[in-house]
Formats: sequence, structure tokens, C-alpha cells
Amino acid sequence: MYNNKVLDHFKNPRNMGEMKEADVVGEYGNPVCGDLMFIYIKVANKNGKDIIKDISFQTFGCAAAIATSSMITELAKGKTLDEARKITRDDIATSLGGLPPQKLHCSNLAADALHNAIQKYYSKKNPQ
Ligand code: FES
Repeated sequence: MYNNKVLDHFKNPRNMGEMKEADVVGEYGNPVCGDLMFIYIKVANKNGKDIIKDISFQTFGCAAAIATSSMITELAKGKTLDEARKITRDDIATSLGGLPPQKLHCSNLAADALHNAIQKYYSKKNPQ
């Protein structure tokens, strides 16, 4: 059902765990299954651009949710916030070599939690 890359990210998740010194914590709950993800980001300014210096996650969900969470931390680390917010669920699934069709919705969790974190960072930086 899952390919070896997905299984590897599920069994050996990258950047997993709470980050105490995070600037913001994004979260997203999947309304269909109730699975939940938190994504922690630490932002640094480099050459006038905000980049994701560090990122980690906690996911309470299925194998695909954990694998996609792990993959999005690898995709987003070192990217500018603008680049990172363009990462889509398809990018995540493609980077994992594909997901079973019935598990594609699970990649929403990671993409939406990251987008939520970035949005929170902008709101914190530019309060209205
Ligand atoms: Fe809930 Fe996969 S079944 S995210």
C-alpha cells in the first residue's frame, strides 16, 4: 500500500518533536478523521528575507500523516516564508513518490498546518 519512501518517513520521521523556542506554532485538524498536527517554526532573517531556520512537528494521526509531516519539514527547512507557503499537498505527495489515492487527503494536514504557522508568523510580526 505504501512505498518504501513513505514507510521510511513513517518509521524514521525527520524533525519530530516539540520545539520550545519556536516563534510560532501552526496547527491543523483534519475534520474527516480527527487527526491533528502541530508545526513549529523558528524564523531568521537572512539577506533581508525571512527564512525557516528550524522546523519540527508533532502529529497525532495515521502513517501517511506522519510521513507527510516529516517530508514537509524537509521541504520547508531553509526556504523563505514566501517559498514555503507555496508548498502544496501535491508537492509533498510527489516528494514521497506518491501516496495511495485514499490517503491523499492526509497530506492536507501537513500543508495546512505549515500555512497556518506562516500566517500566524505574519500576524505576529504585523499586528493590525
Ligand atoms: Fe487522518 Fe490520515 S487518516 S490524516
